[in-house]
Amino acid sequence: MCGIVGYVGKRNAVPVLMDGLRRLEYRGYDSAGVALVRDGQIALRKTVGKLDGLQESLLAAPLSGTPGIGHTRWATHGAPSEANAHPHLDRSGRIAVVHNGIIENYQALRAELEAKGCTFRSETDTEVVPHLIAAALEAGAADFGEAARRALGRLRGSYALAVLFLDEPDALYAARLGSPLILGHADGEQFIASDVPAILGRAAEVTYLEDGELARLTRTGAAVCTLETGAPVSRAPSRVDLEAEAASKAGFDKYMLKEIHEQPRVLRGLLQKYVVEPETVALPDLGPAEPLLKSVDRITVVSCGTAFHAGMVGKLLIEHFSSVSVEAELASEFRYRAPKLAGVPLVMAISQSGETADTLASVRLAKAEGRPILSICNVAGSTLVRESDGVLFTAAGPEIGVASTKAYTAQLMCLALLAIHTARLRGEMSKEQAGVFLEELQAIPNAVHYVLARQEQVRRVAMKHHSGPSALYLGRYFNYPTALEGALKNKEISYQHAEGYAAGEMKHGPIALVDEYLPVVCVCTKTESEVYEKTLSNVKEVQARNGRIIALATDGDSALADIAEDVLFVPPTLEAFSPIVNAVALQLLAYYAAQARGLDIDKPRNLAKSVTVE
Ligand code: M6R
Repeated sequence: MCGIVGYVGKRNAVPVLMDGLRRLEYRGYDSAGVALVRDGQIALRKTVGKLDGLQESLLAAPLSGTPGIGHTRWATHGAPSEANAHPHLDRSGRIAVVHNGIIENYQALRAELEAKGCTFRSETDTEVVPHLIAAALEAGAADFGEAARRALGRLRGSYALAVLFLDEPDALYAARLGSPLILGHADGEQFIASDVPAILGRAAEVTYLEDGELARLTRTGAAVCTLETGAPVSRAPSRVDLEAEAASKAGFDKYMLKEIHEQPRVLRGLLQKYVVEPETVALPDLGPAEPLLKSVDRITVVSCGTAFHAGMVGKLLIEHFSSVSVEAELASEFRYRAPKLAGVPLVMAISQSGETADTLASVRLAKAEGRPILSICNVAGSTLVRESDGVLFTAAGPEIGVASTKAYTAQLMCLALLAIHTARLRGEMSKEQAGVFLEELQAIPNAVHYVLARQEQVRRVAMKHHSGPSALYLGRYFNYPTALEGALKNKEISYQHAEGYAAGEMKHGPIALVDEYLPVVCVCTKTESEVYEKTLSNVKEVQARNGRIIALATDGDSALADIAEDVLFVPPTLEAFSPIVNAVALQLLAYYAAQARGLDIDKPRNLAKSVTVE
């Protein structure tokens, strides 16, 4: 996944593009580049590595000009190199293109263009685009917009594109098919971006480009048409409602740490938003899913990565509180097998970004079979939200750190509310019971606050255990997904191999790994079920093999304090809601392990914030 920006207005485009790219760098950061019109030419600057490299190059040899386009890349076709970095030019150097997505038929197009004499400078799929547009102009396209439409009509795959023409230096073009793209509008200035944070504070209004649309932006506005016929599209822009502050680090060292600390506020906000009376949840945007929740026997949940772990907790919550049977599926698997949806009247998708390719493909598959989609999503204008029949917004604000934190706990909170709401709708939970559960839920933000207040202790534990090659994470029932999520957090930002496992399964294999060097993170918070005793037995099995136990335990649990090398205490909560609190402790553990290893926490290697390619 890559980040795209574009600017047309009176100002020098470079600072505007660089600022936008900086805010999109979470989408990819193996190379970056800008192109702008200057002195009757397209000036290009590209560097390998993070944006700082491009910034340094621009400081050493300044560029200025307008309009301009910029790109931060996460390599798909062709290694990270200057040649493969965007923007890409046609052979005359008069057309520049930046792209996010994958052009599946680029090899055939490239062969065709090479046969006509085009020389390619990169290994990318993107480079076919400027050449195709140039060919369309040579073939007599009436104007630049028509040339772009003709060229894009030849592409298979997905794209968000911004195009700059030297011969139309007062305009920029933007097109979208399957990858997100927005247009920002301000007085005398227009912007293109992959995501709203890139234009926060610059544009008061935004237009979400839809699939199959092309926009022409000039200083005074944007005209949108369909890619297929060129027919004008009229859509009123929306107000940008995110505060610029929400996309800043607000004094924290890293976005991830800031986002970890935002969790009590986000969770409290969700409770305020969705709990309308002490015993009543109201979820106003569920749409047709709401009546279905009364009658369905089964729900299938599709999601990826951290959102998949939320799906696993969601399954346990809904099954715990109601009679609905729920399957949590990895979207990347679901879409390629032959899922049987005959007895599944409702499909739920969970995604922070709402742009994850596998999740969207699974949703489309389910929609093609006539299933309504209920999505749990953090981004209001995202593709997922727009393609869903009902939505539960996680309202966590922009999440910039690549490792998901506040979006995850917000998903868990929404799922807890949805589970209670579902049980109430079905008459399977009394009003009084709902009141009791909601009171427990109301205590969760404070419990998270308490975990954060003890971050120094978590840091000390992380400092002791970060240097080994591997770690094991164990948990049961509601906290089996917590173990998976803790391990995922650890490996993605600290690069320490970590495996999450169901504690009861340890004796069927992973126990062979346990020795006096292996850190074993045991999620063993007190529960009202027998799970606590069972997990405690597993912890003792690790102890008997001299494993280095880091226990996540409930305040005052002296049994674990005696067994474990280190204990991270969390406040008591209802077992069903404990994954929210426990996740925060494990986020901090991963954060400080990565910090101790001196790594780039907000932008871990090889990752992208939302994976808009397969
Ligand atoms: O935007 P989404 O929630 O759909 O993203 C899904 C995963 O790509 C994401 O959760 C990923 O696993 C994160 N890096 C985890 O921290």
